[in-house]
Amino acid sequence: MRRIGVLTSGGDAPGMNAAIRAVVRYAIYRNIDVIGINKGYKGLIENDMCDMNLSSVADIIHRGGTILGTDRCEEFKTDEGFAKALDNIKYRDIKGLIVIGGDGSFLGARKLSQAGIPTIGIPGTIDNDLAYTEYTLGFNTAMNTILDAVGKIRDNSSSHERTNIIEVMGRHCGDLALYSGLAGGAEVVVIPEAPIDIDTICETIMRGNTRGKKHSIIMLSEGSGNAYGLKDEITKRIKVNIRCTVLGYIQRGGTPSAYDRLLGSKMGAKGVELLVDGISNVVLGTKDGKLFHQDIEEALKIEKQFDYETYELTKILSI
Ligand code: ADP
Ligand code: F6P
Repeated sequence: MRRIGVLTSGGDAPGMNAAIRAVVRYAIYRNIDVIGINKGYKGLIENDMCDMNLSSVADIIHRGGTILGTDRCEEFKTDEGFAKALDNIKYRDIKGLIVIGGDGSFLGARKLSQAGIPTIGIPGTIDNDLAYTEYTLGFNTAMNTILDAVGKIRDNSSSHERTNIIEVMGRHCGDLALYSGLAGGAEVVVIPEAPIDIDTICETIMRGNTRGKKHSIIMLSEGSGNAYGLKDEITKRIKVNIRCTVLGYIQRGGTPSAYDRLLGSKMGAKGVELLVDGISNVVLGTKDGKLFHQDIEEALKIEKQFDYETYELTKILSI
């Protein structure tokens, strides 16, 4: 393994820079050259790459986003785009590749593996929607960002005696809403995994009012609809003062948490080590807090299990 490449793909996530830094520094420590591929798979297609050295990754461990840039590259899914990417990998003499991204990026990584390019996947997405791993890089920071916002919105809720609906990201996965709902003391959590009817939401708000609760927080996952739509449905049924906040892209940015810096650093180094050991076509994850790797094909087949216990606990603790 003389030369490897690293890229970030799909949605950016805090901790990606820590992972890039670890890949570059650990590879150099193992006498391997590293090429940074700009803008995800687009950089492979357009041959947009640069040599990385120790100082290319200086002063980035605390920065959100990704210094390599990222992209949602439709061309990579086409035969022509993929062929161009393979040509450039060969032209650059890249012998192994580390892909930092979410499930879509892993489909691309699997395709590269199948074409004979030794590839390692590092799960980087705020959504935590990859079933094979406990946590994805960026999820912890995004949750903390959400909680910071919930605290501030809670002040407003309480001063004005309002119900605040907070819409968070996650695509089809409710983890961001569920875990920040429990940690933020939400009265109601609305997630795709546990559809809830509007009447039940209204009953919960009214039950709280009856026992003297003057305000409430509804944590809504974007996969279950939008905040303003939910507000309309609730106010058609009960008289309640509602405000909506769509948290949006603040969830994707910001300085990574200690957890995400550690996870990114460990996964980046481990990815290089696996390539050196001749292990590839695997993705990295955590199980019981420990790093492990798993065949990419197998990992992608695993279906996410709904954390019913946490969902129930959130309901019980907000009675
Ligand atoms: P994420 O990795 O965060 O889930 P996307 O779903 O947008 O983000 O995927 C990132 C990129 O991975 C896509 O823009 C595309 O370049 C690549 N990709 C996604 N699906 C496939 C696929 N089926 N085959 C090859 N590449 C894919
Ligand atoms: O996958 C991360 C994510 O932020 C999702 O939570 C969200 O639905 C999506 O990306 C937004 O994508 P884009 O950055 O393309 O608007």
